[in-house]
Formats: sequence, structure tokens, C-alpha cells
Amino acid sequence: MVENTGGIEALLQEDRTFPPPEEFMRNANIKDPNVYEEARKDPEAFWARFASELDWFQPWDQVLDWQPPYAKWFVGGKLNASYNCVDRHVKNGRRNKAAIIWEGEPGDWKVYTYWDLQREVCRFANGLKSLGVQKGDRVTIYLPMVPELPISMLACARIGAAHSVIFGGFSADSIRDRIDDSQSKVMITADGGYRRGGIVPLKQNADESLEGETPVEKVVVVRRTGSADDKMVAGRDVWWHDLVEDQPPTCEPEPMDSEDMLYMLYTSGTTGKPKGIVHTTGGYMTGTYATSKWIFDLKEDDVYWCTADIGWVTGHSYIVYGPLANGATSVMYEGSPDYPDRDRFWAIVEKYGCTICYTAPTAIRTFMRWGEEYPNRHDMSTLRLLGSVGEPINPEAWVWYWQHIGGGRCPVVDTWWQTETGSILIAPLPGITTLKPGSATQPFPGIEAEILDESGNPVGPGGGGYLTIKRPWPSMLRGIYGDPERFVQQYWSRYPDTYFTSDGAKLDEEGYYWLLGRVDDVINVSAHRISTMEVESALVDNSKVAEAACIGRAHEIKGQAIVAFVTIKDQVPTSDGLITELKAHVATKIGPMARPDDIYFAAELPKTRSGKIMRRLLRDVAEGRALGDTTTLADPAVVESLKAQYGDEE
Ligand code: WT7
Repeated sequence: MVENTGGIEALLQEDRTFPPPEEFMRNANIKDPNVYEEARKDPEAFWARFASELDWFQPWDQVLDWQPPYAKWFVGGKLNASYNCVDRHVKNGRRNKAAIIWEGEPGDWKVYTYWDLQREVCRFANGLKSLGVQKGDRVTIYLPMVPELPISMLACARIGAAHSVIFGGFSADSIRDRIDDSQSKVMITADGGYRRGGIVPLKQNADESLEGETPVEKVVVVRRTGSADDKMVAGRDVWWHDLVEDQPPTCEPEPMDSEDMLYMLYTSGTTGKPKGIVHTTGGYMTGTYATSKWIFDLKEDDVYWCTADIGWVTGHSYIVYGPLANGATSVMYEGSPDYPDRDRFWAIVEKYGCTICYTAPTAIRTFMRWGEEYPNRHDMSTLRLLGSVGEPINPEAWVWYWQHIGGGRCPVVDTWWQTETGSILIAPLPGITTLKPGSATQPFPGIEAEILDESGNPVGPGGGGYLTIKRPWPSMLRGIYGDPERFVQQYWSRYPDTYFTSDGAKLDEEGYYWLLGRVDDVINVSAHRISTMEVESALVDNSKVAEAACIGRAHEIKGQAIVAFVTIKDQVPTSDGLITELKAHVATKIGPMARPDDIYFAAELPKTRSGKIMRRLLRDVAEGRALGDTTTLADPAVVESLKAQYGDEE
């Protein structure tokens, strides 16, 4: 498995290098390597230069107020994110430029110019106001990848309401938890969305999530599939098209304080309860604007496509806010890469003449398995830059991407960041950096990253440890919604005044960063972040399960796959049927992306004498390795018997 795709071992022996192509270097937005040194000397001035390229209603008095672990950026400044993403381009000569090119899975498509976008955002913003949404409220958005999704986000931003977008793959229970936590009064959903030729029943999930007590008073429904026309709830539900019909196409943008919340986005951590990561306005806009401009080298005539779903942070920062703040053309696709055939992505690249493509390693590995036949069907000569995000990219996938998608011409920017960081922190500058496949290369200028050992000493070249960020950066999270203690505990208690990323990393002799994956109980499945605790609580929620422990094991395509070890209550017979039932149970409780790949029945789970489950040993079993140190186990026989039972399965 790991060997086939070149895992961590291959990664650390990688020695191919790719300097920027001559022409790319000449034309790049940033080509002067001195920016690193300049930003290091005065990071605040560096970020303030980018911030001043945005439009402010009122200038800031102070760039940074840092009272660890609380940072405020551009203090006293006032701006509006939707104004910066839309209106200023309408005013500055881009009004008839395509802002969003959208393609639906069935093949329908639509182009929104910046002027169109302004009218649609304003009409919907007025619609939200008519439902009673006010500055400071939270609005839950549960939509497929349709244009109404970015329009809703920008409309919320326009009137000063924070959005909370929930990925369309989440189940009713997951939606309910997030709505309860955010206390949203309004929810925006659709009757359904298209995926692999079928319909995802979003309205049905949304309705279920609102059963019983709920803070949600009004639900706006986009009519996408025509699959819920008889399901509208009188007095609660309103069609999007009815709501906006008589609304005027103008709406004054609310002047927001730089530190006002722009949005919250839930992500998984080490406990079962998802965290509502809070992002504010001025710093977040500055970070996404700057990184889009320099890392994706956005130019006036680029057609930029990020294939992520807006339900995740990648879509927030690099489909919506970053590219639109730059006045770019952002492509958005609703469906699956293999519908109607495995060349769908490349058909989209050809049809719209995409110049930049940003996707995840898990997708690249899938394309690699499907073979070159599919990209070869299309003219992809418009592409000039490729990006990767979400998980470590193995060198083989990197080189395949560079060769077969990029035609050997396009630099590949491997971008490391997190929901919490808001924007990319470690990535190449494609006109400057010599690339090494598998390495995210260097921290962005103004970012001071450091790899520390257990006792907090920097590891130095050639060493490995925990990735930390020493200095605050503009788009950093400002907190976990409603849980200030967890914010401090999770990110700021490991090392003094230093942000703890929960990622392991190595520094090579030339100072390049090699990201090695999470060091906590978070599994990265197809670039989706899932906590082992969430899956475990979903499993023990089933009445037949006594105890469960989950781990991530290496997987050729997905990066990691979920393996659950389960002890069943006395009297319950184990069977293949029960495995199917438990997998389905997890999918219903959390969402299909959390469905375990394997479920192993265990008479007992290996625990330390203090009762802590030793996941490391379960990982050894699931990956078919010799067992590591077992001396701290309460009962070594437990893991030996698991190994005898499942150890050779690989
Ligand atoms: C975790 C964050 C950032 C947007 C998508 C995921 C892993 C992300 C890379 C990369 C190695 C990466 C890390 C990180 N990760 N990008 N280029 N190389 N690992 O956001 O869901 O918050 O997950 O994804 O482990 O901690 P997220």
C-alpha cells in the first residue's frame, strides 16, 4: 500500500527539483526573493501593504494588537467583505467580467458577471433583511454547489450576519448539532443537489434536522431539482425565487469592524463535539487576498478553478473570498468528477479555458488510477499553474499531476493550511521557489513557522517534530464559537504564546518543510477531517455496541481510511450483517464520508493500566505491522489476539 504510491519513506528520499519555468518567472506577480527577508524584518508593514489594497470605509489605527493568544488586526478599521469581493470591481472596470462561471452536474451552466453578482447579492441581502436577519445574527447555509451558495455568503457578509456553511454531505444529526451551537434563526437550503446522476435529498435532511425544538424560524429553499415541491412547510419555508422577486438590486453594505465575525465554520477536533471556528473580517480578507494573489499568481485574464466544495474552508477562502477579492474569474462545479464519464474535470478545463486548477491529492491519485486516457481527450493547453491541498501529496502523484495534467509546463503549488489558519501558510511562490515534489516548501512571507521537539526546542535542518506558528497572522482563527477555554486548551497550551497546529513536520537540510500528517486523533480521509471520537460516539450510539476505538490506516487513494475496532455487548452475535449495519449507522449519524472502511470485532480493546485505549497498537494491527512497544498495556494478550485475528488481512 504505502509502498505503491510512495508514502512517507519515498517522500523523505525525494530529490527531484523543479525551478520555476523561465517565462513563468518573468511574468509572475511576485518574483523578487527579497520579499521573504523584508516581511521577516517588518511583518506588520508587510501585511498592512496588502490590507491597504482592499477598500476600507474607515482606516485602521493599529495594525496589530497582540495579547497572546488573542490577536486583533487592523484595529479600528471598517470594511465590508461583500463590497470588497463585488462592488469595488463593478466600480473599477470589471463590471462585465465573469466573476463566477458555474457548471451543474447535468451540464447546465451559467456565468455571473461582477455586475450580475452585485445585483443578486443585494436582492438576496434584502430578502434576508425582510426575514428579520440583522447584523450580528448567524445564518446556517446547507446548500449544494450552486451559485446561490456564494451569493448567500456574500449577502450575509453584506448585512453583517455571520454565515455558518454546512457541507452538503452532512446528515440531519450533524446539521442539528451545528444549528444548536450557532443558534441560527434562518437556514438556507435547496430541495436537492445533483451528484453522480442522482439527487442528494438536502431538504429532507434539513427538515429532519429541524424536528423538535430548534432556533430556526425561517427556511429559504432554492429550487434546484424540483424534488420537494410538496414538502414546503407553511409559515416556515419560503422559496428563494419568491423571496428575491420583488427585492431591489441595491443594498448598502454594512460597515463592519475589522474584528467583527465574518463567518464560523465547524471542523473536527480531538473530541466528539465539532468546533465552530471563528473568522473575522479585516484580517481574513487580507490573508485570503494576499495568498490568492501571490500563490495562485492571479492575473486579469485567468480562469481559476478550485475543485473543492464550498462546504469546507478551501471553498470559502479559495473559491469565494480570495479570488473574488482579487477580481478574478472563479469556476465552480456542482458534481462528481466521473459523471457522465471520468474526463469531466478535463472537459471543464477545456470548455472554459481554465488557466489554474487547485485540487486535492486524493483526487489526483484517483485520476492517476483511472489513467491518462481521460485528460488526453481534452485540450488543456490553457493551464499554467496547478495547486494541491488537504493532505500530504506523495511525490508520485505530484509528478503525475505535473506531467499529465500540467503537460510538464505548470508549476505545482502544494499548499499547507487549516480551517483554523483561514488562509495558506506554507506554500511555494511559483515565480520564485524551486519545487520539490511532496514538500509544501516554505512559509509564506510574514509567517514564522517553527518545528519544535517535545520540549519546545527548534529541531533545525534535518530534524522532525511538531509544526507551530510563532507569530500571529491576519487570517488566524479568533476563537471557537462559544468555547473560549477550548480555544486556549487546543491551540495555545502546548507551547507558550505559540500556535500548535497538531501536524507533524520535518525540515530538510535546505530548510524545506515536509508535512507528515496529524499527531492528534484526527483522521484525514480524502482530505476531509474526521475525528476518531466522532466516529466512536456514533458507533457506541448503536445499542449493540459496548465500546469502539477508531484509527486511520494508510490508504492508497484516500490518504487514510477509517478502521473501527468494536466490542459488542454480550449476547449479540457478530456477523457481516452487523458490520453493514454499523457502517450505515455511522453514515446516518455523521454523513457518508465518515463511514468506516473496515469494522473489526474485538473481545477487548488494548488499554493502558490507566484505561487509555492504545490506538497506536490498533494502527499497527490494521496496517499489518509488527507491534510497537506493548509494555504499558494492562493486558498484552488483548492485542496479540487481535493481531492473530486481523493482522494478516492486508
Ligand atoms: C489539515 C487541515 C486547508 C484546507 C483543507 C483542509 C492537512 C492540509 C495539507 C498539505 C499536508 C495538509 C493537515 C492539516 N493538510 N493541507 N498541503 N500537506 N497536509 O483543511 O479540514 O482544516 O484540515 O489538513 O493535516 O492540519 P482542514
